[in-house]
Amino acid sequence: MKVLLIHGPNLHLLGRRQPEVYGTQTLTDINAPLLEIAAQRGVELKIFQSNHEGEIVSVIGDNIDWADGVLINPASYTHTSVAIRDALSAVNLPVIEIHLSNIYAREPFRHRSYINPVAVGVIGGFGAYSYVLALDAIIHILQESQHVH
Ligand code: DQA
Repeated sequence: MKVLLIHGPNLHLLGRRQPEVYGTQTLTDINAPLLEIAAQRGVELKIFQSNHEGEIVSVIGDNIDWADGVLINPASYTHTSVAIRDALSAVNLPVIEIHLSNIYAREPFRHRSYINPVAVGVIGGFGAYSYVLALDAIIHILQESQHVH
């Protein structure tokens, strides 16, 4: 079972970026337990961070034959990116949208997600634990499906 995890723009600054909103853990702190859980559960987890929309589009397409499922925190591109949404539709893999914060409890411009309609579901508001929940959810979804590498 192969899972691609994508972190969008500004998430490389976690730990220093608005800790009152996003917590004090760095991206490395967030990734470490995910890699451990993946290893324990026999899942190959590939992790990618980019601040560039086109790079995120490319990495999604490049993994069409590798990934069984995609976890993505599109960060601010959640609210703007038709290109990332189209890339996710194009690869036709199960997707879970992740957010550290509860976007629906924040500014109105964060309430709209372009990604949401092409995701199986959305997990947000639990800080770094949102990622743990999402990894568990994608494993569950893939175990139920027949199409796993
Ligand atoms: C975020 C929420 C977005 O609105 C914001 O632009 C981010 C992070 C989150 O994880 O809570 O960069 O996706």
